[in-house]
Amino acid sequence: MRSRAKRGTLSVIANRRSIRLFSDTPVPDEVVEVLIDAGQRAPCVFQSYTVIRITDQNMRSRIREMADDDPALSAPVWLLLCLDLRRTRRLFDLINERNVLRTDRHPIETVEMLTELAMFAENVIIASEAMGLGSVLLDWPLRDPEGFSKALGLPEGVIPLYILCIGQPRENPPLRPRFPRELVYSVDRYREATDEELLSYLREADAELRSEGYLRKYADLDVSLTEYLSLKVANTKETERVESAVQRFLKKSGLTV
Ligand SMILES: Cc1cc2nc3c(=O)[nH]c(=O)nc-3n(C[C@H](O)[C@H](O)[C@H](O)COP(=O)(O)O)c2cc1C
Repeated sequence: MRSRAKRGTLSVIANRRSIRLFSDTPVPDEVVEVLIDAGQRAPCVFQSYTVIRITDQNMRSRIREMADDDPALSAPVWLLLCLDLRRTRRLFDLINERNVLRTDRHPIETVEMLTELAMFAENVIIASEAMGLGSVLLDWPLRDPEGFSKALGLPEGVIPLYILCIGQPRENPPLRPRFPRELVYSVDRYREATDEELLSYLREADAELRSEGYLRKYADLDVSLTEYLSLKVANTKETERVESAVQRFLKKSGLTV
């Protein structure tokens, strides 16, 4: 009985893929609440996240505009995942007026707060899968936190990071490539990947994604994964402008490493 339950969980994890096309079948409120409860069961230290479900049609239109009409926004459920330094600061102040969040040096807390938000998100993602729903994490808010914050009227200290889209899948994509296990896992020592291993991974991932038509389907691009990643990480005048704006917003919100 117990091992069957374990296999069930593992199979849900092993078969998860990001879903970017959804049917408009509504997801009942009670199901969303079950997902949030599952998120809250993730390991935590400060529970420094706040989740805002976006249902208001005006807000949804505004977000669609800011997110360049991302097709994943066809999902019925949009959960805006925010890092909530505002509530965390208040909690710390109640416990100890001379706390680290009153300084601009708190790298440990910053990393831990981001980690717990990620763990919350993954629990919601896996719980969605277990209930037959698909999901994808979108990083539009992180790219324009000021814009999202204004559009949603968020108070200072609440940092919008991701939109988690959830709904009934309207596509059945294959599993996407990952590094071979030995690139991310070693025993007793750090194992340096060779250039050839990295390049060979990129070649294989390129071929797999091309056979799915991944970049053409979702980004309307006829480029390889390598070319796409190279553009994504390029240091240009535009990325400098965006990164600096995000850095200023995070600092103003109290998030520093
Ligand atoms: C931090 C983070 C941000 C992401 N942002 C986006 C995004 O903005 N748009 C998108 O389509 N997918 C986004 N994804 C999903 C990844 O593209 C996806 O997980 C990856 O391509 C692997 O595919 P799979 O989830 O199907 O295995 C994001 C994933 C993570 C972890």
